[in-house]
Amino acid sequence: MCGIVGFVGTEPAAPIMIEGLRRLEYRGYDSAGVVVIDGGRLKLAKTKGYVEALSKIIDGGEKLPGCVGIGHTRWATHGQPTDENAHPHISDGGKIAVVHNGIIENYARLREFLISKGFTFRSETDTEVAVNLIQFFYNDGGGLLKAVASAARRMEGSYALGILCEDFPDMLIATKKESPLVLGIGDGCNYLASDVAAILSHTRDVYKIDDDELAVLTAGEIKLYSSELDEITKTPEHVDWDLSAAEKGGYEHFMIKEIMEQPEAVRKTVSPRIIDGKAVLDELDIPDEYIRGLSRIYVVGCGTAFYVGAAAKYNLEKLTRIPTEAVMASEFRYSSPIVDASTLVICISQSGSTADTIAAMREAKRLGAKVLSVVNVMGSVIAEESDWTMYTWAGPEICVASTKAYSTQLAVTYLIALRFAEARGTIGGAEYAAIVEELKALPEKMQTLLTRRENIQYLASLYYNRKDVFFIGRNVDYAASLEGSLKLKEISYIHSEAYAAGELKHGPIALIEQGTLVIAVATYGRLIDKTVSNAVEVKSRGALILGIAAESGAETIARVADNVITIPDVHELLLPSLAVVPLQLFAYYVALAGGREIDKPRNLAKSVTVE
Ligand code: M6R
Repeated sequence: MCGIVGFVGTEPAAPIMIEGLRRLEYRGYDSAGVVVIDGGRLKLAKTKGYVEALSKIIDGGEKLPGCVGIGHTRWATHGQPTDENAHPHISDGGKIAVVHNGIIENYARLREFLISKGFTFRSETDTEVAVNLIQFFYNDGGGLLKAVASAARRMEGSYALGILCEDFPDMLIATKKESPLVLGIGDGCNYLASDVAAILSHTRDVYKIDDDELAVLTAGEIKLYSSELDEITKTPEHVDWDLSAAEKGGYEHFMIKEIMEQPEAVRKTVSPRIIDGKAVLDELDIPDEYIRGLSRIYVVGCGTAFYVGAAAKYNLEKLTRIPTEAVMASEFRYSSPIVDASTLVICISQSGSTADTIAAMREAKRLGAKVLSVVNVMGSVIAEESDWTMYTWAGPEICVASTKAYSTQLAVTYLIALRFAEARGTIGGAEYAAIVEELKALPEKMQTLLTRRENIQYLASLYYNRKDVFFIGRNVDYAASLEGSLKLKEISYIHSEAYAAGELKHGPIALIEQGTLVIAVATYGRLIDKTVSNAVEVKSRGALILGIAAESGAETIARVADNVITIPDVHELLLPSLAVVPLQLFAYYVALAGGREIDKPRNLAKSVTVE
């Protein structure tokens, strides 16, 4: 996720870019840049670091005159956060400049093609492929708009692009697919931005452009086109959000925004790694013999990342038949773990900078294991020091409570399990294909769940004032319960615990009293009757039951539950990916009803960089 902004008018563009980029910094902040056209030539400034660093270089924009410009704040995906990889990128030949938000999934093939046509690349980014592809088609002489449309047709993945060309010094072009982009209508000037927050101090009238549409912006007008380059008309929308709501995409909190972003984040993380029905993890380059020789896997992390491990244990063990244990990083590092060269340690971390996880990773390496990390922040310590790194493409997670990081991390573990199971011959073709299909369908199923959030808000209004809440579940439902309970306690401050349902009778059931809320996660079909029996046991001691069930099991849990939330049916190993969504929403709405400081809960920090 990155932020892009553009301006065309009669006043200097660069200061407007800097102001807009500051408001977009929540979308990415590892490098920033602007390019303007001045005297018919592109003038570029970009740097690693925050927008502030860029602003210093160009004196707030003063040193970069020119009334047409595009700017970018980056969240690195392809290539480290460096000056070279910072946007804007300029085509080979120096005529066209591009800023890009998204991921071009077929960039490697396009890059090879362009190199074969004589193009030279200066960065590791997928964006440089986009700008050179536009240049390639532009060289044919059919005009810039046609070149952009032709390039867009060849790019797979997601993109919002702002484009400048020296041959058209008074014009900006924009297009998008599956990445956000709005066009702002000014008075004698026009804007583009990833998020209306970037331009809200200048205009509140915007066009929202749909996938594959194109726009040509000049100071006097905005022209819109279909992908076939037929001119189209749209009615502008008026935005009346205040600025702080706008930064959150109109949502009240980053947490709900990030919950809502999960389908897109999971899709971005999974779809580039599924090619012709196979989990292709080219970035890992792990030899099959190594995978076949593994005797043990530890999945290590803290908090939510550890609970991803708790869920991943089931899919990794079931599919690869390698004994797998999820261990808290803080325990792993001091436990003299049994580790040798046939052990793989999978470190999971959103930030890549959690002190305990770093220490666990180093300890594992010291003992001779290889480390595969699943990380969101590019260039972070864990990403850099691991033997292999798989990035989650969740974009920046701002809310302290982790949501989209959990979903994308878990999705990555399915891919690892598939890749390993194939190498070890422990999965049949039909099951492999079924899981791949389910993985591809996961974002849509998550989306379906998110559209039902009003019902969850209603349920939260019934239960928000409980003193204690217990979560129970078995197998993958137990894993989801752990995360659901953490979400609830960290943002609502309600005491909450998760138990494996079968353990209840061995002690925890003593805590149940009249009116205690028990959330029974019972999505796992094979064990639904067992979990329902446990729910009956707590109900007969006065508990209120909120059941979470898959559609096919909803009737069974409804016999005992006071309320039921259903999730779409899905392959049993993928159930926690869906079960967690209503649990996140429930925690959010309970905290909202309780008037909590949702994005920055008390006593907590986003990155725990000390032990
Ligand atoms: O950055 P990391 O994923 O390594 O962070 C690990 C935990 O600190 C983190 O998941 C924490 O538990 C979350 N705030 C929970 O929502």
